[in-house]
Amino acid sequence: MARAWSLKARPQGMPKHTDFAMIDLDQSTLGAGEVRIANRWLSVDPYMRGRMNDVKSYVPPFALGEAMQGGAVGEVVDSNDDGIKVGDMVLHMAGWRDEAVVPAAQVQKLPALDVPPQAFLGQLGMPGMTGYFGLLQVAEAKAGDTVFVSAAAGAVGSTVVQVAKAKGMTVIGSAGGAEKCAWVKSLGADAVIDYKSDVPVVKALGEAAPKGIDVYFDNVGGEHLDAALAHARMHARFAVCGMIDVYNSGAATQLKYLARLIGNRVQIRGFIVSDYMNRAEEFYKDMGGMLAAGTLKRQETVHEGLETMPDAFLGLFSGGNTGKMLVKV
Ligand SMILES: NC(=O)c1ccc[n+]([C@@H]2O[C@H](COP(=O)([O-])OP(=O)(O)OC[C@H]3O[C@@H](n4cnc5c(N)ncnc54)[C@H](OP(=O)(O)O)[C@@H]3O)[C@@H](O)[C@H]2O)c1
Repeated sequence: MARAWSLKARPQGMPKHTDFAMIDLDQSTLGAGEVRIANRWLSVDPYMRGRMNDVKSYVPPFALGEAMQGGAVGEVVDSNDDGIKVGDMVLHMAGWRDEAVVPAAQVQKLPALDVPPQAFLGQLGMPGMTGYFGLLQVAEAKAGDTVFVSAAAGAVGSTVVQVAKAKGMTVIGSAGGAEKCAWVKSLGADAVIDYKSDVPVVKALGEAAPKGIDVYFDNVGGEHLDAALAHARMHARFAVCGMIDVYNSGAATQLKYLARLIGNRVQIRGFIVSDYMNRAEEFYKDMGGMLAAGTLKRQETVHEGLETMPDAFLGLFSGGNTGKMLVKV
């Protein structure tokens, strides 16, 4: 019997282990056009916290008591579709479970790039596309710009750092703790701010970028966003990707420097990566070139076994990952 994680209760504040429950999935029959997939790698992502709330959003909430969904990579073990064969490695959205039965139309064969399969859940997948298009399209970042990116040791942030360096930008990253900061520096960042040190982010950013920043890639919100506003140069562009600082608290963000955006004509744009999914080929081509040139580094934090999904997910909110957080089934 296949097993899946379900949401037992909608979390209040930081989710707890008791908010999740493992359920059995009866999927013994394979319908017309369906494929059966043995999941090998499961993704946990910060956006899943939003799906735990019963609110209207760009993606519907998880239904209580039912199998949760999320990015997954697995091997096809049975197929009722001519285009997908047993043995194919595929990407799909029926994660949080060890085995998935889904319509073949909802799976994607892994692109032909020289990386291990789990990379398509991270740097060569949704988080990588988020960093790539958020930086180059939403923020319109270009060579010569000074870019500040928060959560720079995470899946999205570490992609932003490396793409920005590959495209001739100066990069300042922020991350929590000396070890993560050293890793961000090893990716090529020109300066790294340890936001967990005693120095306020606004002061540290002023020292790292004395002439200000042209681009802010926001993964965090809160104090980071305010610091970026304080140091935004004329016509700076902000790509607002995420605000993990408030996902659990829901607290209102205090922005002392918000009015700076008037005089400095700062442009702030939120975005969702799905806006750019139709440009995946362009992403694979450019990132593939960087991979081949050896300019991309990748790191994963791996939890072992389906049982560890809640641990891995909760770790996203306590800095438990460097690079992409994954579960190996
Ligand atoms: N708009 C979109 O389409 C889209 C798509 C994907 C992701 N996102 C967003 O992008 C952001 C990064 O996602 P990801 O998948 O790459 O996750 P991630 O950065 O790999 O993991 C989350 C990291 O956030 C940092 N963090 C957690 N709580 C924090 C806090 N209160 N203040 C500062 N940093 C905190 C932690 O790193 P430290 O140890 O450094 O604190 C943690 O490791 C998230 O906000 C996510 O929601 C948006």
